[in-house]
Amino acid sequence: MPDTPNGIPDAVRAGRPTVWRNPHRRPAAEILPGLAYGLAEVAAAEARWRRFDPLLARLFPDLETGRIDSDLLALRADVSAHVAGIAGAAIWVKADHDLPVTGCIKARGGVYEVLVYAETLALRAGWLRGGESYARLAEPVMRTAFGAYTVAVGSTGNLGFSVGVMARALGFAVEVHMSHDAKAWKKQRLRDLGARVVEHAGDYGSAVASARDAFAGRPDAHFVDDESSVDLFLGYAAAAFDLQRQLASANVTVDAESPLHVYLPCGVGGAPGGVTLGLKLLFGDAVRCIFVEPVAAPCMLVQLAAGLERPVSVYDIGLDNRTAADGLAVSQASLLVAGTVGALIEAVVTVEDAALFTGVRDLWERAGLRLEPSAASAFAAVAPALAALPETHRGTHVVWTTGGALLPEAEFQKALAAAA
Ligand SMILES: Cc1ncc(COP(=O)(O)O)c(C=O)c1O
Repeated sequence: MPDTPNGIPDAVRAGRPTVWRNPHRRPAAEILPGLAYGLAEVAAAEARWRRFDPLLARLFPDLETGRIDSDLLALRADVSAHVAGIAGAAIWVKADHDLPVTGCIKARGGVYEVLVYAETLALRAGWLRGGESYARLAEPVMRTAFGAYTVAVGSTGNLGFSVGVMARALGFAVEVHMSHDAKAWKKQRLRDLGARVVEHAGDYGSAVASARDAFAGRPDAHFVDDESSVDLFLGYAAAAFDLQRQLASANVTVDAESPLHVYLPCGVGGAPGGVTLGLKLLFGDAVRCIFVEPVAAPCMLVQLAAGLERPVSVYDIGLDNRTAADGLAVSQASLLVAGTVGALIEAVVTVEDAALFTGVRDLWERAGLRLEPSAASAFAAVAPALAALPETHRGTHVVWTTGGALLPEAEFQKALAAAA
């Protein structure tokens, strides 16, 4: 078969858990200056978030400061030892499973892109005048004005929810395109928000493609493109400032002697890729970003291993993209992300579904963290990384828990039971 992509380890093709050190990784100082987005763009995204603080505080009463951020939690020594498989590892949790408003990391990109659209419309139409507080956008007259516009998105669930919550709060019409395997409760939750849910027979990638076509060229609509949106990417990247501030106030040193290893669950790649860009810009090579994917859906690993010349999907190597980590069930990685941060990714770890369920149970029982299987994948990657990558024995580990707090109780119980 001349078309079979090269460079992909046999264990990955066979669906076995693997630690893949990225052979194409390069020093940050070599890659960052050549990228289309740098510190100026990420700082501008951060500044936009802050402009919206007064509006978000008004729309979501739980959000006192208007800031959508999560805590950085220190894992107890005994729990760290259990997760790492050895004593002495310093593990922190960036608790986006408990992110306010949406309970998942996708808010960092999805909410942000809706805010970009709202700001663009408002400035263009003169609804906001210079210096005026953005809290004005919460007024009923603005809801009516935004109601003439539609925000659309293709999603496995969490991006659709994040976009849906924000867009509906502002008064936009919302349309979410979902794949056949999207969970029924996720569709219902969107309908309860007032979103229109369109179901597709194919997988996540084909739902995104159909929605992109349906909304192309419509002046009264904005399509949030999970595969190729720069705004999404920069919204995620701004999270690096939050982590930097929290590490500093926890007196965690990040430098060449004491590097930071960050474990990031990866679906299409936008969330982990954006965070990687932001962290590399702030910490350079003192931070090492380790992506985590299900054994059945290692789309970023496959794309990076095969090279960026053409798109490669997990189906091309005989994998089926079926995993309990529904947020990570993506067959084809974002080429925007792979092309931008591919050389900045340290390694990709693939994990079996059984390890996700064990992670959900263990972190709940031992640390009270309420995770969905996608988020538990980050924990499942720590021990294999420590075993295969000697340099991870120095420094600090940050496990980015990407979703779970808003999982319906019955779904959470199902995940706990699956571990038994
Ligand atoms: C809980 C959770 N974690 C991680 C991700 C991965 O994000 P991305 O698809 O941007 O790589 C997702 C995506 O939906 C998710 O829902």
